[in-house]
Amino acid sequence: MIRPIVAGNWKMNGVSNSVSEINSLKEKVSSPSNCDILICPPATLIMAFSHILKETPIELGGQTCHSAASGAHTGDISSEMLKDCGANYVITGHSERRMDHGELDKIVKAQTEAAWRAGLKAILCVGELIGERKADLTLKVIERQLKNSIPEGATADNLIIAYEPVWAIGTGLTPTVDDVATVHTFIRNNLIETQGQQVGSNMRLLYGGSVKPGNAKELMAASNVNGALVGGASLKAEDFAGIIAAYE
Ligand code: PGA
Repeated sequence: MIRPIVAGNWKMNGVSNSVSEINSLKEKVSSPSNCDILICPPATLIMAFSHILKETPIELGGQTCHSAASGAHTGDISSEMLKDCGANYVITGHSERRMDHGELDKIVKAQTEAAWRAGLKAILCVGELIGERKADLTLKVIERQLKNSIPEGATADNLIIAYEPVWAIGTGLTPTVDDVATVHTFIRNNLIETQGQQVGSNMRLLYGGSVKPGNAKELMAASNVNGALVGGASLKAEDFAGIIAAYE
């Protein structure tokens, strides 16, 4: 049995008074759930949240990291820094980083290696653009992203793959459950082939893109879906708890 994980990506949202939302989430999910729970707030909030979430099942992650541990990289943040302020996870290869910051597969691979170096688990995102889907290139794109961005040494514990069709992010659009199952099964088979049976069959595969309390149960029930990566709906404790409830 793969233990699912529901991860919230706050993106560039949240200031110090967002502690009220985290306090509210803490109350809603105080008892152990049937899934792991993760919040990836802006890096500026990780340390404050880590104090609030001590002794709760809610873990913390960063949204990206630099490949180096330290140095002359103005504005960047390293995986060691994320770990130091209380994170156990980091997202790598999110499509917004790929597009806004030119973080291509090679960079995503180096960032994922950096995550492991610091003892963080990486949530590596893959997904097709709308034009690629229309041209029937979805599986090709995903195959290329997996091949070029997963470093040597992946295990079911240090790596999670998130499938996020770029056109579904923040748009309210989602693929059909069948489409999600097709892509996730493709990823599962690819991982078994490239990473070996043990690693590939146990790695968690998350779906992301407009997951809401209203569609979470259906999407999470698709074959080879082991949780969700949630953007907008993770900002409100009530909505995020509603998605976690898909696993009750
Ligand atoms: P969304 O974002 O849930 O707002 O669509 C998902 C993501 O970018 O991870």
